[in-house]
Amino acid sequence: MDLTREEESILNGEKGAGAQKAMELVVALGKVYGAENLVDITSAHLSGASYKTIGDGGLKYLEDMVAGGAKVSVLSTLNPVGMDRDRWKEMHITPEFAEKQLRIIDLYGRMGIKTTCSCTPYTGDNVPKFGNHIAWAESSALSFANSYIGARTNREGGPGALAAAILGKTANYGLHLDENRKPTVVIDAEIDGSLFSHSLLGQAVGMAIGGGVPYYRGIKPTLEDAKTMAGAMAASGSVALFHVEGTTPEASKFDVSGLETIHIGKEEIQAAYDKLNTTDDIQLIALGCPHLTVKEVKDIAAFLKGKKKVNKDVEIWFCTSTSVRDQCPDEVRILEQFGLVLADTCMVVSPIEGTFQRTGTNSAKAGNYLPTLCSQKTMCRDISALMEVVL
Ligand code: F3S
Repeated sequence: MDLTREEESILNGEKGAGAQKAMELVVALGKVYGAENLVDITSAHLSGASYKTIGDGGLKYLEDMVAGGAKVSVLSTLNPVGMDRDRWKEMHITPEFAEKQLRIIDLYGRMGIKTTCSCTPYTGDNVPKFGNHIAWAESSALSFANSYIGARTNREGGPGALAAAILGKTANYGLHLDENRKPTVVIDAEIDGSLFSHSLLGQAVGMAIGGGVPYYRGIKPTLEDAKTMAGAMAASGSVALFHVEGTTPEASKFDVSGLETIHIGKEEIQAAYDKLNTTDDIQLIALGCPHLTVKEVKDIAAFLKGKKKVNKDVEIWFCTSTSVRDQCPDEVRILEQFGLVLADTCMVVSPIEGTFQRTGTNSAKAGNYLPTLCSQKTMCRDISALMEVVL
């Protein structure tokens, strides 16, 4: 790999042990993937923030990085953690878990990372621009940033994104390069246009193609639709970039006439739905995967206003960011009559398996991960159908 003199000096340890470790990792990744050089990034978004997912080994790694003087050099944000910092007792979190979780947040903060802890940083705390190179590690967020914004990132892992954040650089390969951003398949989509149908569409496409760069026709996704599609495709497949004709910023530059076309309609959507529904009997309804936006909080509040929760046995979690929670206090008050409005955490990275075994969600991404990461059976429906269980 072609390294500048400054990059070589970091690799030789002249800027401290933390920066050296970071450079070793970025260079190693670059060699594996055939990068010719490093590229400057404008921001990073880090995963590996929940004590549930990183455990004591991850905590020790962060301790070592801080002890080695590691500091980020670009705007860096953090994914959801395992609990709401203020309401963890109501989430059935143990004091031991809480103590370690707070320590992890503190360590990230000491490295200069914004500890706002959301998987939708692009709605406020970390908004890349078209063409920016970034290093993001949250499959739904990075796919959204690549696709809906036109920024450029690979599907980074937590340590790779942290290393890039420290250096302000990442290895220049994969989706940083023009040739890898071309569509590989056309998706002719036929759905009802609801938010939930976009989630199922993403699920069906991930199931159909696995990876690659789908080019959609037949839909006009809003930010919220694209957010749930991105999460679904990244979970049921490994899609990190998609284009939508007439909507996403790079779509118009491609000629897709020679590509294979796959039709996704009623039958495929039903198969996606069936895969995500394994129970009719739930103990928890968890919304906000990816985190609820202000519009979604307002829509849910409008739907619930004037209604009453009759079934008190089922808990409800509305997962969002602190900034969204702060932006709509009136709607949050309505939601609080039905359940907990939780900030900076989610149903997947929280240790819910200690309390619940059956969870309802309107998110295909959560529908994929709740069984594998939280041992849950799932009910995956749109919000009004889920709420029928409690109203
Ligand atoms: Fe976000 Fe958790 Fe879903 S991190 S995308 S709400 S699994």
